[in-house]
Amino acid sequence: MSEHKTYPPAADFVKNAHVDAAKYEEMYAASINDPDTFWKEHGQRVDWIKPFTKIKDIDFTLGNVSIKWFEDGQLNVAANCVDRHLDKRGDQTAIIWEADDPEEPSKHITYRELSEQVNKLSNVYKELGVGRGDRVVLYMPMIPEAAYAMLACARIGAIHSIVFAGFSPEALAARVSGCEAKLIVTADQAPRGGRNTALKSNVDKALEISGDTKVLMVERTGADVDMKDGRDFAYGPLMEKASAECEPEAMNAEDPLFILYTSGSTGAPKGVVHTTGGYLVWAAMTHEITFDYHDGDVYWCTADVGWVTGHSYIVYGPLANGATTLMFEGVPTYPDASRFWQVCEKHKVAQFYTAPTAIRALMGQGNEYVEKCDLSSLKLLGTVGEPINPEAWEWYHNEVGKGKIPIVDTWWQTETGGHLMTPLPGAHALKPGAAMKPFFGVKPAVLDPQSGEEITENPTEGVLVITDSWPGQMRTVWGDHERFEKTYFSDYKGYYFSGDGCRRDADGDYWITGRVDDVINVSGHRMGTAEVESALVAHPKVSEAAVVGYPHNIKGQGIYCYVTLMSGEEPSEELRKELRDWVRKEIGPIASPDLIQWAPGLPKTRSGKIMRRILRKIAENDYGALGDTSTLADPGVVDELIDNRMNRE
Ligand code: WT7
Repeated sequence: MSEHKTYPPAADFVKNAHVDAAKYEEMYAASINDPDTFWKEHGQRVDWIKPFTKIKDIDFTLGNVSIKWFEDGQLNVAANCVDRHLDKRGDQTAIIWEADDPEEPSKHITYRELSEQVNKLSNVYKELGVGRGDRVVLYMPMIPEAAYAMLACARIGAIHSIVFAGFSPEALAARVSGCEAKLIVTADQAPRGGRNTALKSNVDKALEISGDTKVLMVERTGADVDMKDGRDFAYGPLMEKASAECEPEAMNAEDPLFILYTSGSTGAPKGVVHTTGGYLVWAAMTHEITFDYHDGDVYWCTADVGWVTGHSYIVYGPLANGATTLMFEGVPTYPDASRFWQVCEKHKVAQFYTAPTAIRALMGQGNEYVEKCDLSSLKLLGTVGEPINPEAWEWYHNEVGKGKIPIVDTWWQTETGGHLMTPLPGAHALKPGAAMKPFFGVKPAVLDPQSGEEITENPTEGVLVITDSWPGQMRTVWGDHERFEKTYFSDYKGYYFSGDGCRRDADGDYWITGRVDDVINVSGHRMGTAEVESALVAHPKVSEAAVVGYPHNIKGQGIYCYVTLMSGEEPSEELRKELRDWVRKEIGPIASPDLIQWAPGLPKTRSGKIMRRILRKIAENDYGALGDTSTLADPGVVDELIDNRMNRE
C-alpha cells in the first residue's frame, strides 16, 4: 500500500492557491465552531434578490428530518450563472463546446450569447405552458442546449429532472411519470463515439408507455424523426421567434431547483431533490476552492449532465463563478485513446476532472497517446466517482500531470450536491487513493457498523456518516419524504448515513473503501443491484435472480447475476444473450450484465432471505472465506455455485 508515500503541494502552487494549509485549518475551525458566521459570509458568494437573515435550521431526528438553509432569502440561479456576469465578462467565453467528431468545429459561447439563448428558451417554455414549480425532463446529448435547457428552467422556476441519454425508453418513462413532467426536452439524435443514439424515437417509445407529455426537440443531427402534431415541437423555429428578454423569477432559497433520480439499495430509483440557495452556494464554493479555479482558466469536467457531476461541476458551479467551462459530447477513446489529451491541448485546459474508470481504460492503451499531446496548460487534475487504485493514481500523476501537478480525489454523492471530502490542492500533502479531508462545514464521523458507536481514535475503520448538515445537502426524495428519512437517517440515529465505508489513518485522513449496501459502481455509474434483479425477473423465463458486484479491472465493478430459470427452461448461450439484451432494454446499456451464472438454487436463510454476502464472495472468487453458513436452509447449493462460478481470476 502506498499509504506512506505523500506528495506535498509545490511551493509555487501554494503561493497562488485560494487556500493554503494555515488557511484551511483556520477556515475549517471557523466553519465548525461558528457555522452561522461562516455561512453568513459565504452565502454572499451568490447574489440574492432578497437577502437572507436566517442561516440554518436543521433536524436530523428520524420522523422529524428537516433541512433548511438561508430559508428567508430569495434568488434566481440563472441570474447568478448568467446575468450577473454580463457587465464584467459579457464577451468572455462561458461554454466551450467540443463535438463528438473532432472534425466538427468547436463552439465558444460567450456569457452574452448564453444570456440570449437562456432568455429565449425561457420564453419558449412559457409558451409551451411550463411555469414555476412545473417539472421538465431533459433527455439530451452533451450539447450547449442542454445547459440552456437547465438554466431556462431555473430562470422561470421550473424544476428539471435530467435523464442520462444512455437510459432506455422504459427507464425514461418511469422517470417522466415519477415527477409528472409537463415537458420533455430532447434532441433528434445523440452522437457519441461515432454512433448516433435515437433520442427522439426513445422519447416516442417512452410516451407510449406513460402518456402525452409535450416534447421540445433540438435538431442536433437533422435525422428524420416522427413529429406528433400538437405534442412535439422543433426547437429551432420556436427559438427564432422568441423574445430574448425574460425576467428571472424570484425563487425562495428552499424551492426545488432540480430532481435527479439515483439508485438505492432497494426499490426503484429515487428522485433526489436539491433546492436553490444552499445548493448554489455549495456548488460555487467547492468549484472554486477544490479546483483552485482562477479567472481566465479553462476548466473541463468530462462527466455527462445526466449525472450530478455534470449538474454541479459542468454547469452550476463553474457558471456561478463566471468560469469558462468545457462541454464534451464524445467519449475518451474516439476516434482514439488520445482524444481527452487532444482536447486539453486544443483548448488549453487548466483543470481537468474525470473518473477513475476512464483513467484505467486509457492507462491500458499505452503512454504514447498522452505523450504526443502538449499538456503544459494543465494546473490540476481531479477524480470522482469511485475509489482510485494507487496504480491508476500514479499513472495519472506521472503521465498526465508529468509528476508536477496536484490531483484532487473528491468524495461526494448525488445526495450531497457537491464535494464533501477532498484534499485541497494548496493545503494538503496528497496520498494516492485518499479523499483526505472534509470540506468546510462538513463534520464526518466513523461509526462501528454493529454498535453504531462513534469511534474517535485513529487509525480506524467503519461506516461513514456526517453529523451535521451542509448547504448542498439533498432535502427530500421527490414525493416520498418518509423514504428519505428511512434511507439516510434510520440506520444510525441522528446522523446522515452515506452508505459508504471508510478508513481514517493515523494522521486522521479519510480513505473511502466503497459501498456497504447493495449499491454497485460500474464505470462510475451507480446502480442498485435490486434494479437489475427486478429487470431479470420480469423476463418470462426467469424465476429468481440475485445480482452482486465483483472486481473488474476497468469498470471498477462488474455486474454478476445469479439466475434461476423457470422449471422446464434450459440454460443456453442464446438465453444468456437474450437476458443481457433484455436488461439493456429495461434499464439501458450501462446495466448490461457482465457475467450470468445459472443457479439451480440460491443460498437462503431459513426465513427465505437471500444471503448476498455469500454470493458476493463467490463472485469475487474468494469462496475460501465464506464465513458462517450455518443459518442456510440448504448448504448444498453453495458448493454447486462455487463449482460453476463464472469468475476464476
Ligand atoms: C458514490 C456516489 C459524486 C458524483 C459521482 C458519483 C462513490 C464517489 C468517490 C471517491 C471513492 C467515491 C461512493 C459514493 N464515490 N466519489 N472520490 N472515492 N468513492 O455520484 O452516483 O451518487 O455515487 O460514488 O461510493 O457513495 P453517485
